[in-house]
Amino acid sequence: MDSILQGECIYLRRLERDDLARTWEWLHRPDVYERLGVNIPFSHTQQEAWFQGLEQSRDKIVLAVCRTEDDAHIGNVSLDSIDLRHRNARLSIFIALEETRGKGHGSDALRVLLRYAFEFLNLHRLWCKSDADDPGIVRFYERAGFQREGTLREHEFHGGAYVDKAVWGIVRHRNGVPE
Ligand SMILES: CC(C)(COP(=O)(O)OP(=O)(O)OC[C@H]1O[C@@H](n2cnc3c(N)ncnc32)[C@H](O)[C@@H]1OP(=O)(O)O)[C@@H](O)C(=O)NCCC(=O)NCCS
Repeated sequence: MDSILQGECIYLRRLERDDLARTWEWLHRPDVYERLGVNIPFSHTQQEAWFQGLEQSRDKIVLAVCRTEDDAHIGNVSLDSIDLRHRNARLSIFIALEETRGKGHGSDALRVLLRYAFEFLNLHRLWCKSDADDPGIVRFYERAGFQREGTLREHEFHGGAYVDKAVWGIVRHRNGVPE
């Protein structure tokens, strides 16, 4: 597939209704909901209402991450709070299962999402939050070209304790000039 949504080992496509049951399972896993800050539990009915809102939304898009070799849906990426005046958006990403992580799919999906956001949607800045003290996540975002812009102290409550979150940002510049 010759598409802006095609990466080296994955491609992105719009999340479909058939993906919802799988996504429901993934988002109820602690290693996903805690890192993404998802409020659980949510019902399938609530998820269906969320999906209907998503289909109409102009400020949010969720894309399925699919492995090119077998079309398996292995995670999701999203852009939300898309602000067309200031041309920024927040991103999130997960590769669902431990056995599919650490194989380059997440980095590839993030690269494709950045290309789509900057070159197709013409956004200028993307940002996200992560655990502040997770060295793997720090490497993941730094390798993709994000800069750590600050720390939100005791911003979220996980596992019975308040935890710091890092804020990451990436801006689209060409020859040092904002685009
Ligand atoms: C973070 C995540 C998207 C990375 O995707 P991936 O396919 O595993 O990443 P890649 O194989 O492209 O790159 C591996 C790098 O990801 C980082 N990483 C972070 N958490 C990881 C995990 N649980 N397993 C493997 N790699 C992880 C490391 O920097 C690793 O590089 P290293 O080998 O030098 O340590 C994925 O691990 C994930 O979904 N984790 C849970 C949800 C999450 O943390 N989302 C981000 C919220 S801020």
